[in-house]
Amino acid sequence: MLDDIINISKEAGELIRSKFNTDFSLEFKTNESDLVTEVDKASEKIIVDFIKKKYPSHGIITEEGGTSLSKSEYNWVIDPIDGTTNFAHGLPIFAVSIGLQKSGKTIAGVVYDIMLNIIYSAELNRGAYENDKKIKVNDNANLRHALLVTGFPYDVRENPENALGKFVAFTKASRGIRRLGSAAIDFCYVAKGVFDGFWEVHLKPWDMCAGKLIVEEAGGLVTDFDGNKVDIFSKKILASNGKVHDAMIEILKQNP
Ligand code: IPD
Ligand code: CA
Ligand code: CA
Repeated sequence: MLDDIINISKEAGELIRSKFNTDFSLEFKTNESDLVTEVDKASEKIIVDFIKKKYPSHGIITEEGGTSLSKSEYNWVIDPIDGTTNFAHGLPIFAVSIGLQKSGKTIAGVVYDIMLNIIYSAELNRGAYENDKKIKVNDNANLRHALLVTGFPYDVRENPENALGKFVAFTKASRGIRRLGSAAIDFCYVAKGVFDGFWEVHLKPWDMCAGKLIVEEAGGLVTDFDGNKVDIFSKKILASNGKVHDAMIEILKQNP
Protein backbone atom coordinates (compact mmCIF):
# COMPACT_ATOMS: atom_id res chain seq x y z
CA MET A 1 0.00 0.00 0.00
CA LEU A 2 2.91 2.40 0.64
CA ASP A 3 3.73 2.33 -3.08
CA ASP A 4 0.14 3.30 -3.83
CA ILE A 5 0.32 6.22 -1.41
CA ILE A 6 3.62 7.40 -2.88
CA ASN A 7 2.37 7.13 -6.47
CA ILE A 8 -0.88 9.00 -5.84
CA SER A 9 0.95 11.70 -3.84
CA LYS A 10 3.26 12.22 -6.82
CA GLU A 11 0.36 12.32 -9.26
CA ALA A 12 -1.46 14.97 -7.22
CA GLY A 13 1.84 16.79 -6.66
CA GLU A 14 2.54 16.99 -10.38
CA LEU A 15 -0.83 18.65 -10.96
CA ILE A 16 -0.13 21.12 -8.13
CA ARG A 17 3.35 21.91 -9.51
CA SER A 18 1.93 22.55 -12.97
CA LYS A 19 -0.54 25.08 -11.48
CA PHE A 20 2.02 26.93 -9.31
CA ASN A 21 2.10 30.66 -10.13
CA THR A 22 -0.81 30.36 -12.57
CA ASP A 23 -4.16 32.07 -12.42
CA PHE A 24 -6.23 29.74 -10.22
CA SER A 25 -9.39 30.67 -8.36
CA LEU A 26 -9.32 31.23 -4.62
CA GLU A 27 -11.96 31.29 -1.87
CA PHE A 28 -11.94 32.15 1.85
CA LYS A 29 -13.02 29.48 4.32
CA THR A 30 -13.38 30.59 7.98
CA ASN A 31 -11.73 34.00 7.40
CA GLU A 32 -9.52 35.93 4.97
CA SER A 33 -6.39 34.04 6.10
CA ASP A 34 -7.96 30.63 5.62
CA LEU A 35 -7.79 29.89 1.89
CA VAL A 36 -8.75 27.14 -0.50
CA THR A 37 -7.89 27.15 -4.20
CA GLU A 38 -9.31 25.19 -7.07
CA VAL A 39 -5.98 23.33 -7.06
CA ASP A 40 -6.55 22.06 -3.49
CA LYS A 41 -9.86 20.66 -4.68
CA ALA A 42 -8.42 19.15 -7.86
CA SER A 43 -5.59 17.49 -5.92
CA GLU A 44 -8.06 16.07 -3.43
CA LYS A 45 -10.21 14.70 -6.26
CA ILE A 46 -7.26 12.82 -7.78
CA ILE A 47 -6.49 11.17 -4.44
CA VAL A 48 -10.08 10.41 -3.42
CA ASP A 49 -10.99 9.01 -6.86
CA PHE A 50 -8.01 6.67 -6.64
CA ILE A 51 -8.97 5.39 -3.18
CA LYS A 52 -12.62 4.94 -4.10
CA LYS A 53 -11.64 2.91 -7.14
CA LYS A 54 -8.89 0.75 -5.63
CA TYR A 55 -10.05 0.53 -2.00
CA PRO A 56 -13.82 1.17 -2.17
CA SER A 57 -14.49 -0.08 1.36
CA HIS A 58 -11.96 2.24 3.03
CA GLY A 59 -12.91 5.36 4.98
CA ILE A 60 -11.59 8.77 3.95
CA ILE A 61 -10.92 11.92 6.01
CA THR A 62 -10.01 14.94 3.87
CA GLU A 63 -9.60 18.64 4.50
CA GLU A 64 -11.73 20.01 1.70
CA GLY A 65 -14.34 17.31 1.15
CA GLY A 66 -15.02 16.28 4.71
CA THR A 67 -15.20 12.83 6.07
CA SER A 68 -16.70 9.62 4.76
CA LEU A 69 -16.01 7.02 7.40
CA SER A 70 -16.93 3.43 6.65
CA LYS A 71 -17.07 0.14 8.49
CA SER A 72 -13.62 -0.69 7.19
CA GLU A 73 -10.77 -0.71 9.70
CA TYR A 74 -8.78 1.39 7.21
CA ASN A 75 -9.02 5.19 7.03
CA TRP A 76 -7.07 7.52 4.77
CA VAL A 77 -6.29 10.97 6.18
CA ILE A 78 -5.55 13.46 3.43
CA ASP A 79 -4.30 17.03 3.10
CA PRO A 80 -4.37 17.74 -0.66
CA ILE A 81 -2.10 20.79 -0.24
CA ASP A 82 -0.48 21.47 3.11
CA GLY A 83 0.78 25.01 2.81
CA THR A 84 -2.06 26.53 0.79
CA THR A 85 -1.17 30.09 1.84
CA ASN A 86 2.37 29.57 0.51
CA PHE A 87 1.00 28.06 -2.71
CA ALA A 88 -1.43 30.96 -3.18
CA HIS A 89 1.31 33.57 -2.62
CA GLY A 90 3.95 31.93 -4.82
CA LEU A 91 6.19 30.63 -2.02
CA PRO A 92 7.42 27.16 -3.05
CA ILE A 93 6.94 25.38 0.31
CA PHE A 94 3.93 23.06 0.25
CA ALA A 95 3.21 19.35 0.25
CA VAL A 96 0.71 16.59 -0.28
CA SER A 97 0.22 14.72 2.99
CA ILE A 98 -1.44 11.30 3.17
CA GLY A 99 -1.67 9.04 6.22
CA LEU A 100 -3.23 5.59 6.36
CA GLN A 101 -4.74 4.33 9.61
CA LYS A 102 -5.75 0.81 10.56
CA SER A 103 -8.06 0.52 13.57
CA GLY A 104 -7.18 4.05 14.62
CA LYS A 105 -3.40 3.57 14.41
CA THR A 106 -1.33 5.18 11.66
CA ILE A 107 0.44 2.42 9.73
CA ALA A 108 1.83 4.45 6.82
CA GLY A 109 2.44 8.07 5.95
CA VAL A 110 3.75 10.04 2.99
CA VAL A 111 4.60 13.73 2.70
CA TYR A 112 5.50 14.86 -0.81
CA ASP A 113 7.51 18.11 -0.85
CA ILE A 114 6.34 19.09 -4.29
CA MET A 115 8.77 21.78 -5.42
CA LEU A 116 11.85 19.95 -4.08
CA ASN A 117 10.48 16.66 -5.44
CA ILE A 118 11.18 14.79 -2.20
CA ILE A 119 9.07 11.93 -0.90
CA TYR A 120 9.17 11.49 2.87
CA SER A 121 7.64 8.18 3.92
CA ALA A 122 7.26 5.86 6.86
CA GLU A 123 5.62 2.59 7.73
CA LEU A 124 4.95 1.53 11.30
CA ASN A 125 8.05 -0.16 12.79
CA ARG A 126 9.96 0.08 9.50
CA GLY A 127 11.74 3.42 9.78
CA ALA A 128 11.40 6.74 7.98
CA TYR A 129 12.81 7.68 4.59
CA GLU A 130 13.66 10.72 2.48
CA ASN A 131 13.29 9.22 -0.98
CA ASP A 132 15.33 5.99 -0.57
CA LYS A 133 17.54 7.23 2.26
CA LYS A 134 16.76 6.32 5.87
CA ILE A 135 16.41 9.42 8.06
CA LYS A 136 16.94 10.02 11.77
CA VAL A 137 16.30 12.89 14.16
CA ASN A 138 19.39 14.73 15.38
CA ASP A 139 20.92 14.12 18.80
CA ASN A 140 21.24 17.65 20.16
CA ALA A 141 20.20 17.82 23.82
CA ASN A 142 20.81 21.53 24.38
CA LEU A 143 17.81 23.82 23.76
CA ARG A 144 20.14 26.79 23.35
CA HIS A 145 21.64 25.06 20.28
CA ALA A 146 18.24 24.08 18.88
CA LEU A 147 16.58 25.35 15.71
CA LEU A 148 12.81 25.20 16.19
CA VAL A 149 9.76 25.60 14.01
CA THR A 150 6.13 26.47 14.64
CA GLY A 151 2.94 27.61 12.98
CA PHE A 152 -0.22 29.46 13.93
CA PRO A 153 -3.88 28.54 13.64
CA TYR A 154 -6.04 30.57 11.24
CA ASP A 155 -7.99 31.99 14.23
CA VAL A 156 -4.76 33.30 15.77
CA ARG A 157 -6.36 36.74 16.36
CA GLU A 158 -9.12 35.39 18.62
CA ASN A 159 -7.65 32.12 19.88
CA PRO A 160 -6.54 32.49 23.52
CA GLU A 161 -4.28 29.48 22.99
CA ASN A 162 -2.42 31.14 20.16
CA ALA A 163 1.26 30.46 19.99
CA LEU A 164 2.52 34.04 20.20
CA GLY A 165 3.64 34.00 23.87
CA LYS A 166 5.37 30.71 23.33
CA PHE A 167 7.01 32.08 20.19
CA VAL A 168 8.63 34.90 22.20
CA ALA A 169 9.80 32.51 24.94
CA PHE A 170 11.30 29.99 22.50
CA THR A 171 12.98 32.78 20.54
CA LYS A 172 14.87 33.69 23.70
CA ALA A 173 15.56 30.08 24.75
CA SER A 174 16.77 28.58 21.44
CA ARG A 175 19.14 29.34 18.55
CA GLY A 176 16.23 30.44 16.40
CA ILE A 177 12.75 29.77 15.11
CA ARG A 178 11.41 29.30 11.60
CA ARG A 179 7.81 29.44 10.38
CA LEU A 180 7.58 27.52 7.10
CA GLY A 181 3.79 27.44 6.66
CA SER A 182 3.46 23.68 6.12
CA ALA A 183 3.06 21.55 9.23
CA ALA A 184 3.65 18.38 7.21
CA ILE A 185 7.05 19.67 6.07
CA ASP A 186 7.81 20.92 9.62
CA PHE A 187 7.43 17.34 10.90
CA CYS A 188 9.69 15.99 8.14
CA TYR A 189 12.43 18.50 8.96
CA VAL A 190 12.31 17.31 12.58
CA ALA A 191 12.50 13.71 11.31
CA LYS A 192 15.64 14.37 9.28
CA GLY A 193 17.38 16.40 11.98
CA VAL A 194 17.16 19.86 10.45
CA PHE A 195 14.88 21.11 13.23
CA ASP A 196 15.23 19.91 16.82
CA GLY A 197 11.61 20.63 17.72
CA PHE A 198 8.22 21.72 16.41
CA TRP A 199 5.18 22.82 18.37
CA GLU A 200 1.77 24.03 17.25
CA VAL A 201 -1.78 24.35 18.62
CA HIS A 202 -4.95 23.35 16.81
CA LEU A 203 -3.50 21.26 14.03
CA LYS A 204 -6.01 19.14 12.16
CA PRO A 205 -5.79 15.35 11.60
CA TRP A 206 -4.66 15.82 7.98
CA ASP A 207 -1.88 18.24 9.02
CA MET A 208 -0.26 15.66 11.26
CA CYS A 209 -1.28 12.09 10.41
CA ALA A 210 1.63 11.32 8.08
CA GLY A 211 4.15 13.68 9.69
CA LYS A 212 3.69 12.29 13.19
CA LEU A 213 4.51 8.75 12.04
CA ILE A 214 7.50 9.99 10.04
CA VAL A 215 8.95 11.71 13.16
CA GLU A 216 8.31 8.67 15.37
CA GLU A 217 9.82 6.26 12.86
CA ALA A 218 12.86 8.55 12.62
CA GLY A 219 13.40 8.10 16.36
CA GLY A 220 11.67 11.29 17.52
CA LEU A 221 8.95 11.90 20.06
CA VAL A 222 5.46 13.38 19.52
CA THR A 223 3.36 14.29 22.58
CA ASP A 224 1.06 17.02 23.85
CA PHE A 225 2.47 19.99 25.80
CA ASP A 226 2.47 17.90 29.03
CA GLY A 227 4.36 14.99 27.53
CA ASN A 228 1.26 12.78 27.14
CA LYS A 229 0.57 10.54 24.14
CA VAL A 230 -1.39 12.15 21.31
CA ASP A 231 -3.53 10.97 18.43
CA ILE A 232 -4.35 12.79 15.20
CA PHE A 233 -7.28 14.59 16.87
CA SER A 234 -5.15 16.11 19.64
CA LYS A 235 -4.99 19.89 19.84
CA LYS A 236 -1.50 20.57 21.20
CA ILE A 237 1.40 18.95 19.45
CA LEU A 238 5.07 18.87 20.38
CA ALA A 239 7.38 16.91 18.07
CA SER A 240 11.10 16.74 18.77
CA ASN A 241 14.30 14.74 18.59
CA GLY A 242 13.35 13.46 22.09
CA LYS A 243 16.45 15.03 23.66
CA VAL A 244 15.14 18.62 23.91
CA HIS A 245 11.59 17.47 24.64
CA ASP A 246 11.58 18.05 28.41
CA ALA A 247 13.21 21.46 28.06
CA MET A 248 10.56 22.42 25.50
CA ILE A 249 7.78 21.20 27.81
CA GLU A 250 9.16 23.46 30.57
CA ILE A 251 8.93 26.51 28.28
CA LEU A 252 5.43 25.51 27.13
CA LYS A 253 4.28 25.19 30.76
CA GLN A 254 5.76 28.52 31.80
CA ASN A 255 4.09 30.30 28.85
CA PRO A 256 0.46 29.19 28.67
C1 IPD B 1 -1.78 24.83 7.49
C2 IPD B 1 -0.28 24.66 7.49
C3 IPD B 1 0.38 25.62 8.45
C4 IPD B 1 -0.20 25.52 9.84
C5 IPD B 1 -1.71 25.65 9.82
C6 IPD B 1 -2.31 24.63 8.87
P1 IPD B 1 -3.10 24.28 5.19
O1 IPD B 1 -2.39 23.88 6.61
O2 IPD B 1 0.08 23.35 7.86
O3 IPD B 1 1.77 25.40 8.56
O4 IPD B 1 0.38 26.54 10.64
O5 IPD B 1 -2.17 25.41 11.14
O6 IPD B 1 -3.71 24.75 8.86
O7 IPD B 1 -4.28 25.13 5.54
O8 IPD B 1 -2.09 24.99 4.39
O9 IPD B 1 -3.47 22.95 4.67
CA1 CA C 1 -2.84 21.52 6.34
CA1 CA D 1 -4.62 21.93 3.12
